[in-house]
Amino acid sequence: MSPNTIPLLPLLPFAALLSACSPGNAAAPSSSSTGSSSSQGTTGSTMGDAASDAGDPDFPVALASGPAPTPPMGWNSWNAFGCGVDESTIEGVAQTLVATGMADAGYQYVNIDDCWSFYPQTTPAAQCTPSTCRTDAGALQANPSTFPDGIAAVATDVHNLGLKLGIYGDRGTNTCAGREGSQGYETQDSQSFASWGVDYLKYDNCSADAGIIEQQYQTMSMALQATSRPIVFSICAWNFYEWELGTGQLWRTTSDIQPNWTSVLSNVMTNEVLAAYGGPNGWNDPDMLEVGNLESADSALGDIEDQSHFSLWAISDAPLIAGNDPMLMTPTTQSILTNSEVIAINQDALGLQGVTVSGDASVWAKPLNQSGARAVVLLNTSDTSAANITFQLPEIGLAGGSATVRDLVSHADLGSFQDSYTYNAIPAHGSATLKVVGAEPPRPSGTTYLSDLQWTYASNGLANHLVQKDANWSGQPITMSGTPYAKGLGVYGPSLVIYRLAPGCSSFKATVGLDDSAGAGGSVVFQVWADGQKLYDSGPVVGPSAPVQSVQVSLNNNKRLRLLVTNDNDGSTLDRADWANAQVVCP
Ligand code: GLA
Repeated sequence: MSPNTIPLLPLLPFAALLSACSPGNAAAPSSSSTGSSSSQGTTGSTMGDAASDAGDPDFPVALASGPAPTPPMGWNSWNAFGCGVDESTIEGVAQTLVATGMADAGYQYVNIDDCWSFYPQTTPAAQCTPSTCRTDAGALQANPSTFPDGIAAVATDVHNLGLKLGIYGDRGTNTCAGREGSQGYETQDSQSFASWGVDYLKYDNCSADAGIIEQQYQTMSMALQATSRPIVFSICAWNFYEWELGTGQLWRTTSDIQPNWTSVLSNVMTNEVLAAYGGPNGWNDPDMLEVGNLESADSALGDIEDQSHFSLWAISDAPLIAGNDPMLMTPTTQSILTNSEVIAINQDALGLQGVTVSGDASVWAKPLNQSGARAVVLLNTSDTSAANITFQLPEIGLAGGSATVRDLVSHADLGSFQDSYTYNAIPAHGSATLKVVGAEPPRPSGTTYLSDLQWTYASNGLANHLVQKDANWSGQPITMSGTPYAKGLGVYGPSLVIYRLAPGCSSFKATVGLDDSAGAGGSVVFQVWADGQKLYDSGPVVGPSAPVQSVQVSLNNNKRLRLLVTNDNDGSTLDRADWANAQVVCP
């Protein structure tokens, strides 16, 4: 990726101090409790919600400024209503969000998806053209039979409820359902949206020229910014592209979600390998929620799957855009969607996307904005049997020793444990959603290889492969340009590895390059960040003949060191990258 296209990583300028991460008050008890817990230690201590940051100057970080400092939350019409959406549905849903507590829980955007705009009543359905579907002045217009009062009136009603209105458009000539697209009309359409009071635009990718995708999304992004209205830009291009960083506040990383477990799992896993790119004002989006819609939603299994789906989206820092019909939801669906303790892990100001830490999909972890705090989701992917799932504290980025565990679904403190924790009897497709509070890993002292230290966070760009210590991406010896290195980190781009530093740490050094196992492939960029500042950028490192590079940068009382490897804008194939001999020099 180009050195200038990644300014929106976490820990950039902050507007307001966030009070210590507090999961909030318990919501109504969930009826989808997933099992019982057991321990290797003693139980009985109460974790409580109070922050324990006293004496740790690394916490809390302040909430980022900008239009989407935490993942956007709201509701969208598509999954439940498709092209059957109309004005009374939108207004009914908005009222229901308020009445059910969803608005108070954070769901603020009410998003109208495809099929809101004018469409000729023809059989078979026609594709719009500007002359058949726009006004004489070339403006988009609402379908008078389904939105008789127009979008501005709907926006007023939604705003009067304390909520915000989202709408849908498309970069091509037509939307995916054949309505008018915005190609060539970006300025006029963005002005229409702003004048109607729209607060959020989901912008789709149908009927469009693949060769101008970046240009068209950037044209609309700039057109929105040129209106005087803040409008969140949700890019729906079904794949991640590095130019999306800084172009939108969220971007779809997957194909369309479907209301079944296979689709839920597939989307969250596709989204997971892009974790290095997610953060405040730029969120990976594995698509809207199907909580309440899953095919088995009437059964106990449906409720179990709904809870796992919601917990996985929460820990993945996914936008929480509900896709059910809130006017008809069951108490269980309502309880899952409004669980303030689970929502709190999603809305945490640190903005680090949770990732798998177990080499499979069973253990997910995410650092929280409180010293020693991690969110954990334990997922049983088995289709048939219950499972006991264990994690070690170092796996989730904590020091070994003692930690407390709280169950965020049953709202119960589970006690204090040593080194590891096991949650028993998690049913097939079920999960446990936990907050664990222990100790941050020790700070470095002296001159130390990073691979001898414990990281606080490590994401990697290949499913089921973890960042390796003193080995390349697959556990083999690190080797670059024929030279073996005994020490270092082997990653697969995109990757982000974070270490805490000590006061007075003066420099970071490493030898970086593509691992010889990348053969003729691989294309990455190495970046070193300290807090919000970029200290080093390798530029594109492209196999097979790229020379290794020596990195040496000064540190200046920084709190966190971030080692980022991007996939250089070309997908992650063979992006096997090494931070050989990576060291920090500290007092
Ligand atoms: C695409 C999008 C969906 C939805 C439909 C509407 O498939 O990915 O999320 O917006 O279009 O037609």
